[in-house]
This record gives sequence, structure tokens and C-alpha cells, in this order.
Amino acid sequence: MKALLELKRLALLAPEAVLCGPSYAQFFFWSRNTRPLDAETTWQQFTQPQNPYYEWALRHYPPAPIRRLWATIYPKLRDRVKGISTHYDISNDFYKLFLDQDYAFYTCGDFLDPDDSLEMAQKHKADFILNLIAPRPGDRILDLGCGWGAMLKRIYQYTGDRENLWGYTLSVEQKRFIDETYGFNVEIKDVVTADYAPASWDKIYSIGCMEHVPKDQLLPLAQKLAAAIKPTGHLVHHFFCQMTPSPPAKMLAGGADVFPGIELATWQQHVDTFEKAGLRVAHHSIHDYRPTIKAWYDRLAAHQTEAIQLVGVRTYNRYLCYLAEAWRLFDDRDLLLMRFVLTRQDAPTPWLSALYRAESRESPVEAPAAVLQAV
Ligand SMILES: C[S@@+](CC[C@H](N)C(=O)[O-])C[C@H]1O[C@@H](n2cnc3c(N)ncnc32)[C@H](O)[C@@H]1O
Repeated sequence: MKALLELKRLALLAPEAVLCGPSYAQFFFWSRNTRPLDAETTWQQFTQPQNPYYEWALRHYPPAPIRRLWATIYPKLRDRVKGISTHYDISNDFYKLFLDQDYAFYTCGDFLDPDDSLEMAQKHKADFILNLIAPRPGDRILDLGCGWGAMLKRIYQYTGDRENLWGYTLSVEQKRFIDETYGFNVEIKDVVTADYAPASWDKIYSIGCMEHVPKDQLLPLAQKLAAAIKPTGHLVHHFFCQMTPSPPAKMLAGGADVFPGIELATWQQHVDTFEKAGLRVAHHSIHDYRPTIKAWYDRLAAHQTEAIQLVGVRTYNRYLCYLAEAWRLFDDRDLLLMRFVLTRQDAPTPWLSALYRAESRESPVEAPAAVLQAV
């Protein structure tokens, strides 16, 4: 059986390289290995530059118009909702092996110092986003794509208000985990098709969920969200995006095998979409995903035996390859991680980051008198 699988792996290498590109073929050739991959060799293979010709082909073949066509057709062949389950419902215990122990965030943390642990980085990120959400007890708050309840937990720790906190996810395993661990209000609901009562939420946030929303559904969703927040409320949107309209060649295998049906927009498309929907970007920041991905990779590799017992060799190998490939995509700046605060264009007062509040607005440096004199 193993010999047959190995033969198939070899036989598919050349046709997949020609049809879908060498990065696609490389991803499958490695991840279909019937033996567990060696973590160090795999990391080197996917993250370190190869010879310049092969490197060029890895990034640029198939050509951009074909990649765009692929990105348009492929998601239509896959059931988007099933795709979420395929990725998130494989095993809560498997994700526990490599996500941070305190919150189980499955999104980019903030390493403020190279020596930070994954737990510290995810706490920094949680606090950064907490500042953006600025929750108050009594605020009605909705988490779109709430994962294993990480940010709900952080908000609850801060406000102590459970009643008004809600989360939507499409993963039954995530909901089961949250029900058993925290008892937060979480519903299995598709954020794309859900109805949102007008002006019913003070804060709505999404941390790493919009990547799963089809591009042609972004505007209708943004319009629903713009109507759903109160004029005094705001949205927090943490997402990664591609830098060009065509998907990077190295994304194709991930879209086929890891996140079935994923469809990324560019950051310009995000800004245009939200502005068209009646929102304004009141804050934006860029964050480095690479240290988080590397920390997940190292933890997964360190738990190879348990991981294989839980999900099998093929899935273990697939996650090693996808994490290493994702690191390289961010390193090459083919992908970018951003956070936005979005307010309604008819908001009565502009949203102000805590950094600009009156108490912190005094300049620590005396401005030179000449600059202050009227011309
Ligand atoms: C990358 S995880 C992020 C989870 C969490 N926000 C975090 O920071 O750890 C993406 C989440 O979005 C959810 N999701 C994706 N598409 C969705 C949809 N259309 N409706 C509801 N949830 C969705 C998934 O179930 C998953 O919980």
C-alpha cells in the first residue's frame, strides 16, 4: 500500500509541476510522503531560497492570468462551509499541541521581543486588540469567526460581562470546546449569510475570519456589518491579504489542500469595500506573522508522535509544509497581515485610539519656538 502511494507521489510530480506550477508540485510531493517529514529539512526546503531559476518558477509559474482564473474557478468547485469544517474540525487536541496554552489563538501574535514565548506574544496581541475594541461592561460585542474562544476569553477577563458577548463559528468542534470550557454564547452561524439586526452591536470584530469570505461576498457582508453596528460603535478587522490581484503561486496548494476554497483580497480591495459600505478606516497597522508561524511549527514538530497518533502522517506532514510555506509567503511580502478599526462614516465623533487620548497627547519634547511662530 505504502509502495503504491509512493509511486503515485512520484508519478504526479511532473504533471502537477507543468499544470499547477513547481511550488504546488513541491508542496504535494513533500506532504504526501508516507513517512513523517524531518522538521529541519522541511523548514529549509520551504523557507530558504533555492537556485535562482527554480526560485523564479516557484514564485511566478503558472503565470498571473492563470492563477487568477484558478482562484476564480476553484472556490466555486468546493463547498465553502465544508471547507471550514475540513480544516477546523480535525481534532481540538491536535490544535492544542501547537497553539498557545493560555488562549489557543489561531492567528498572528505580537512578538515584541525575540525572546517572547508564544504565550506572551498572544497576550500582547490580545491586549492590542482589546485596546482597539475598547470593550465596556454592557457593550453588545460580536466575534465573527471566534475560533476556540480566545478573544472572547480576553474580553471577558477584562469586562466580566458574559451576557453581552457573542461568537459565531462554522466549526462544531470549536463550539463544543467553548461550550465545555467557557460557556460563552457561541452559535454555529455563517457570517456571510447571517442576518444582523440594524444598529444592534456596539462592537463587532473579526480576527482571521474574512480570509474565508469569498471576494464577491465581501461588499454585501461589509454593508450588513456597517448597518449592524450602532453609530457610536466600531468594527475591528484583523486579516491577511495578498499584495497583488493574482494569488501568489505558493498559495495554490494551500487553497487546494489546507484551506479549501480560501480566497484572498488585496488590502486595497478591503479598504475600497469598507468605504463603499459606508465605513472609514480609523486605524491601520501591519504586524509580522513570521515569528508566530515559526513558533507553531516548532511546537508541532516537538509533538510529532502525539500529532501523528491524533491525525495521521499525511495531516502532520501537510501542516509542516503549510506552515513553512506560509512563513515564506510572509517573508517574501506576498502576504501581509493588517489590523483595521472601522467606524461608520456617520459616526457622531471620530474614533480615537488610546494612544491619542488627552492624557497621552502632551509631547515629551519641547517644540522649537521657531516652528510655533505664525508665518
Ligand atoms: C483562523 S481562525 C481564527 C479564530 C480566532 N478568531 C482566533 O483568532 O484564534 C478562523 C475562524 O473563522 C471561522 N469562520 C470562517 N469562515 C466563517 C464563516 N463564514 N462563518 C462563521 N465562521 C467562520 C472559523 O470557523 C474559525 O473559527
